[in-house]
Amino acid sequence: MESPKLICVVGARPNFVKIAPILRALQQADQHIQPILVHTGQHYDQNLADIFFKDLNIKKPDYELHVGSGTQAWQTAQIMLRFEKVIDVEKPTAVLVVGDVNSTLACALVASKLLVPVIHVEAGLRSFDKTMPEEVNRLLTDQMATMLFTTEMSAKANLLQEGVNPAHIHFVGNVMIDTLNQFKDQAASSQAILKDLIGKSFDRYAVLTLHRPSNVDCPDTFNRIFQALVELSQELPIVFPAHPRTIKQLERLKIKAETLKDIHIVEPLDYVRMLGLVKKATMVLTDSGGLQEETTALGVPCLTLRYNTERPATLTHGTNQIVGTETKAIKQKAKGILTGEYVHANRIPPLWDGHAANRMIQILVPWLYQPEVQVKRVLEEAI
Ligand code: UD1
Repeated sequence: MESPKLICVVGARPNFVKIAPILRALQQADQHIQPILVHTGQHYDQNLADIFFKDLNIKKPDYELHVGSGTQAWQTAQIMLRFEKVIDVEKPTAVLVVGDVNSTLACALVASKLLVPVIHVEAGLRSFDKTMPEEVNRLLTDQMATMLFTTEMSAKANLLQEGVNPAHIHFVGNVMIDTLNQFKDQAASSQAILKDLIGKSFDRYAVLTLHRPSNVDCPDTFNRIFQALVELSQELPIVFPAHPRTIKQLERLKIKAETLKDIHIVEPLDYVRMLGLVKKATMVLTDSGGLQEETTALGVPCLTLRYNTERPATLTHGTNQIVGTETKAIKQKAKGILTGEYVHANRIPPLWDGHAANRMIQILVPWLYQPEVQVKRVLEEAI
């Protein structure tokens, strides 16, 4: 029998961090699998994409779809049209998607319509806020998936509530933390990274990331957040690797350079340097999902500039606090960290131990060899 063919999809920055340990574990699996890597090109900048392939030793994609940026519908539709051709040529046994970006949903939808089983890594996370494009992507992808790998306890309960077959859900842990554990000791010192980035270094500093449309595209919210950050930066310098969307908004709002004096804006960083900075930060302020998890794994206090999180384990076990976007609340919570008043749980959530991809592969590979999984492909060919 020919070995099963597994298409693995990546599109945006957080996907690269998740796929790296999965590809490695597949390579080391007892039974042979043919992985085919598809990069949709949702992220295409050197800093958001290429550098991650190099640093994380991800193989060159077998297919690059070069979709680029656009509206939600345009981007999703373009990925679907281009990905359908890949499935047509490759006739895979299954398609594996990770996370919650537009590429995740688009490719899951194409595969599902062609009766190719969908595997979703990081299934079941829910913010219960459907105004976030990621929540829509998560909900729909999980409805189509036949194998769902979860990162934390909350996910299974969410999936069961939505009618997902419990036999399809597998709690394996967090592949993002596999990558973090692999690289966390490889970064240069935070002092060296800071010197290199901004020409000086600090003992205490905060790291900021901000890119969600709800925070960045609405001038009122953006201004409220920035007012808190400017005040905080007078006590604690802030290093801000800024996403292209955020840079555009800063330019649009004509925020003066002197206001940002102690907020050091730098280009989006490569994975290892970002890890080096975050590891030694006094606190992280963010609206990203991945950083909430990474700070929990590193024991660094995190203030989430949103009103919800799809990753509740970072609150119950980790270092995360939800602060929202009001100036006063951000300042207060930051102060709580600076004065040592706020004490977080600081435990590592179950199975965030660096072995999630191995656990996943032990379930996934025998499943791919099952005759009924192979049969689907024959059925699809016959249609
Ligand atoms: C996407 C994901 C988000 C994830 C984030 C990580 C969705 C819906 N969102 O958001 O969940 O947290 O990636 O970074 O999939 N741009 C560039 N260069 C690039 C890519 C984008 O300049 O390489 C700019 C473009 O102006 C583009 C904008 O960033 O319109 C947004 O990019 P897009 O991929 O649509 O969403 P992100 O905000 O990056």
